[in-house]
Amino acid sequence: MSVAPRAGNGKITVPDILSRKSSVFPDSPETKRKITCLTAYDYPTARLLDEAGVDILLVGDSLGMVVLGYDSTLPVTLDEMLHHVRAVRRGTSRALVVADMPYGSFHVSLDESVRNAVRLVKEGGAEAVKVEGGERRIELIARLVEAEIPVMGHVGLTPQSLNALGGFRVQGKTADAARQVARDARAVEAAGAFAVVLESMPRELAASITAKLRIPTIGIGAGPDCDGQVLVFHDLVGLTMDHTPKFARRHANLAAEISRAVTEYCDDVRSGRFPSDAESYHSAAELREPSRVRERAESR
Ligand code: KIV
Repeated sequence: MSVAPRAGNGKITVPDILSRKSSVFPDSPETKRKITCLTAYDYPTARLLDEAGVDILLVGDSLGMVVLGYDSTLPVTLDEMLHHVRAVRRGTSRALVVADMPYGSFHVSLDESVRNAVRLVKEGGAEAVKVEGGERRIELIARLVEAEIPVMGHVGLTPQSLNALGGFRVQGKTADAARQVARDARAVEAAGAFAVVLESMPRELAASITAKLRIPTIGIGAGPDCDGQVLVFHDLVGLTMDHTPKFARRHANLAAEISRAVTEYCDDVRSGRFPSDAESYHSAAELREPSRVRERAESR
């Protein structure tokens, strides 16, 4: 199923990601390469992104909004995550596969949370899990790490806190709020996370957190000074139906291209241009004439 990490076979591992921390390994040539991370929810996308050399494929719970049509990430279940993590795992040979722990899967008890994370690893093939939240997650992250499950933290705007935050807003804009985000990032590191996502915050705050942490920061709407960047793949290729945030640079407009292709298909079918004779299977020559004769006879 997966490619086992062996030294030199190109497989990206958790220690590889750690070694890309700019301030901890300033002389390593690897350090100079920023970490690239994109979301992936299915087999073909995983293959394409993996073959293009993306370092981390994140099976984000954003899949709830992006491909399942929910209004938020809150309804996403562990079983839905598992379904998509397995597909991404099957399409990935080189990248590190990280699975989001969905809302509700780590909020009831530590034991249940560890059990759920173990399912993402054992049944889904994830190599690490991502957990939203900072100081509040210290115990959980430590327990997961103790269970040999590498953890990526996620602080700043945490979409699972939608109801508590009152909307998707840039975080850390006041001095107090900035201090809280910085404390959250330090807590995640202290608990044993190998990397942390910094979402939607002033670039100056993300730069200061990045300079202070010993683990890589992966930014989304957090400016250019993080150790890596993550985007939702569908935003990048112009496949998101609704509003896209200003930080989501679009590199293609696949929605327009898909609409064009589907309209052309419908026109071709309706006009009889599709399928052509060349796109049809044919009977063996000796079988053709009698059937024509029979058809003619039947039509009389
Ligand atoms: O769910 C997700 O896709 C995420 C990323 C946007 C960081 O959490």
